[in-house]
Amino acid sequence: MKSSKSFNFEPFEPLEQCIKPTFNILFTNNVISTQNLQQEQSFILKFVALIEIVLSFNHKTMKVTVVGAGAVGASCAEYIAMKNFCSEVVLVDIKEGFAEGKAMDLMQTASLNGFDTKITGTTGDYSKTAGSHVAVITSGIPRKPGMTREELIGINAGIVKDVTANLVKHSPEVIIIVVSNPMDTMAYLVHKTSGLPKHKIIGMGGALDSARFKYRMAEALGSPISDVDGMVIAAHSDTGMLPLLSKATRNGVPVTEFLSDEQQKYVVEETKVGGATLTKLLGTSAWYAPGAAVSVMVQAIACDQKKMIPCSLMLDGEYNETDICLGVPAIIGKNGVEKIVNVTLTAAEQLKFAEAAKAVREVNGDLKF
Ligand code: 2OP
Repeated sequence: MKSSKSFNFEPFEPLEQCIKPTFNILFTNNVISTQNLQQEQSFILKFVALIEIVLSFNHKTMKVTVVGAGAVGASCAEYIAMKNFCSEVVLVDIKEGFAEGKAMDLMQTASLNGFDTKITGTTGDYSKTAGSHVAVITSGIPRKPGMTREELIGINAGIVKDVTANLVKHSPEVIIIVVSNPMDTMAYLVHKTSGLPKHKIIGMGGALDSARFKYRMAEALGSPISDVDGMVIAAHSDTGMLPLLSKATRNGVPVTEFLSDEQQKYVVEETKVGGATLTKLLGTSAWYAPGAAVSVMVQAIACDQKKMIPCSLMLDGEYNETDICLGVPAIIGKNGVEKIVNVTLTAAEQLKFAEAAKAVREVNGDLKF
């Protein structure tokens, strides 16, 4: 049988492989009489080529780098790969062989979890990250039980600054997602040292905190998590988080119509210490939900979803704040931050937002550029 190699669509060999056996069965069983066999073969091969041409335009070309192959970074890489919306994920770590090992282990799940994203690892060789569209910075030390995120600044600031410089050197157009803590301050540091335009620097906090908010609301309501919606803005810190209870809903109905004042207080307070609660239980920072939250943001960029996600962004007058990174709702798409969304806050929420800003500004004051 004439091979369709003449179409040279190597990337889609699997497609031809699944088509060819079908042809063989058809032709071996003489289902198609021999006199029109040539025409049938030619038609089917042309049809295969047409499919391949169409598919080749949709072939994923997005490259994502995740710096830090620890629990959070590896979870980021795994969820990004499993969602199968990008072509390559590069894991970077400083520990010899660690990123390579994590990448290989993850690649060995490809046939089991059904993804064809290519995951590679490198020990500190940023040339392997060249041409990344998105880079996620998870590197630095996680907090231990009893620590605040802010106590990590001394070590993590230096790491994040170096990582940022390496990323931008090899991928000047990169969009950076900052996860390392204290995240609002680390995002601010990336703005001040990377030279990237502000729409290309996105702090991941609100996406995670909103997921925890929904978890706590569903728990209090006794409802499935898919019934609730809500958003957390302001700081990604145990005291500066602002869960917007006034806007949270259960299938479109304000949750305040279902929850008592006591339950509302419980939901808000448990959301704010969601990270600390897990650190106490796990002995280190959480990783599944942070990894999943990052993957949602990367997918919004990769697939140009124009998704509204609360992210830590550089404010220039929005929410009455300037020269500070804080969690605010934003439209996330192929350019990174497409637009910051100004939602109306109650007087009490505005006050809490300003208090959170004051606290983050104090931590930013500890930065040495
Ligand atoms: C958390 O809240 C790691 O800050 C992250 O779990």
